[in-house]
Amino acid sequence: MAIIIDDISHTFHEYLLLPGLTTQQHLPQNVSLKTPIQRYRPGKEEMKAHLNVPFVSAAMQAVSGPELAIALARKGGSAFIFSSQSIEAQARMVKQVKEHKAGFVESDSNLAPTATLEDALKLRRRTGHSTIAITENGERNSKLLGILTSKDFWEYKDDLSQCVKGFYTPLERLVFAEEGVSLQEATNLLWKNKKECLPIVDKNGNLKSLVFRKDYYDHHSYPDELTDGRKRLFVGAALNTYDYMERTAALIEAGVDCVCLDSSDGYSEWQAKAAVELRKKYGESLVIGGGNIVSADAFRYMAEHAQVDFVKVGIGGGSICITREQKGIGRGQASAVMDVAKARDEYLKETGVYIPICSDGGLNSDTQVIVALAMGADFVMMGKYFAMTEESPTAKISYRGRLYKPYWGEGSNRARNWQRYKQSDAAHLIFEEGVDAYVPYSGPLSDKVGVSLVKLKSTMCNVGVLSVKEFHEKARLTRVSEMTVVEGGTSTVEMLDRMKPNED
Ligand code: IMP
Repeated sequence: MAIIIDDISHTFHEYLLLPGLTTQQHLPQNVSLKTPIQRYRPGKEEMKAHLNVPFVSAAMQAVSGPELAIALARKGGSAFIFSSQSIEAQARMVKQVKEHKAGFVESDSNLAPTATLEDALKLRRRTGHSTIAITENGERNSKLLGILTSKDFWEYKDDLSQCVKGFYTPLERLVFAEEGVSLQEATNLLWKNKKECLPIVDKNGNLKSLVFRKDYYDHHSYPDELTDGRKRLFVGAALNTYDYMERTAALIEAGVDCVCLDSSDGYSEWQAKAAVELRKKYGESLVIGGGNIVSADAFRYMAEHAQVDFVKVGIGGGSICITREQKGIGRGQASAVMDVAKARDEYLKETGVYIPICSDGGLNSDTQVIVALAMGADFVMMGKYFAMTEESPTAKISYRGRLYKPYWGEGSNRARNWQRYKQSDAAHLIFEEGVDAYVPYSGPLSDKVGVSLVKLKSTMCNVGVLSVKEFHEKARLTRVSEMTVVEGGTSTVEMLDRMKPNED
């Protein structure tokens, strides 16, 4: 007879944290969210590869492109660039993140000197940027001739059919610098010359990038920025269990910091084989994650046989996921995290090795993120949360006066990531395990993550802890009844904006 686990599969929504003693040291500015993503021996060695904040983005086409990876690394987390694309395309995305130099931006608004003021206006409306580089052929990396800004012409007074030639500030009158200049030198030039923008050109005068004065303040507002040893932004990438050797070689060449075997069910010999082969080739310097799993025995297997650095937990809880409906497999995310966290702690006691775990999928609110971390997750992976932001790779659409972004599962027909879902020997999906949907647009990633982190730190202070490790050790959680959930929402008060006019 099958083994029947008599415990109900629980979700994060069913738990609440109890406050602990908050001392005068428990201030948000004293909370450290630094968290490991590589196995290590606490007490014997320092934390190795880590995140500065415990957030990573899902390896999905609708989520983790280079723009989002840059924005998330600047906040202290990491993206996992999706693997459901060619090796070359994925490596190119990783390279784009690694080559991103904070403060040096590629000009996205460029015109040839023959363009008209009308063209300049159209471009400004499209990009939202008012600094336009005038280059020999209008391309971003051709010879720089000058800069046109909104101060150089009057939209309502000048004849817009005129050529930009008579309006832009020519190179001779601009302050510019040559490629190789440091950000500090470039910033000093901007400051000394009281300029807003400094073009950077190569030896032949071709435009390379622009440095803006406003980005100086911007740079200062990212104290948690996650970088590698060479001060380049940190980025992860997903792998499948088919072309992992070739893919990893290309990703390493592009500068990837961490890879993760991405499978809907990672408790498999396929995954262990792939991880072991990668470990044999690259040794301990390569951070290798694995998953997904939902039970203690699977954690043991990943730790001992696959020898991975971190393990992702979660099957069937994703917002776009229909695996549980399609196949009857999965586990409530809270039960999965609690079971695996317990196995991780036992493994640490036995071996002295700490293997971080990541709660992946189904986190629909900041409170669920907080509960996941309290229950033992070292970091969380989110898809929907990031798909909603400005920086996700999709275009916004307007529907009935509200903005939305498309969001589809890797197991949907749109993504066709058959390597993630081993359904048969066929190299394609036979049935879908994910849906193709829309999520409301939520604005810039920086603002959204900023608010979530303030809430997380505030809760940690209520609980009386200053680190993620302490959070795991000291958090006390209580199960809630349905009535407790009702009591926790607004009750017995009237929300005036929901009342009909004749009700008052
Ligand atoms: P979300 O944060 O709830 O949107 O869940 C994101 C997670 O769902 C990803 O990190 C994957 O683990 C998982 N996932 C992605 N695509 C699919 C799918 O098509 N079916 C099932 N799970 C998926």
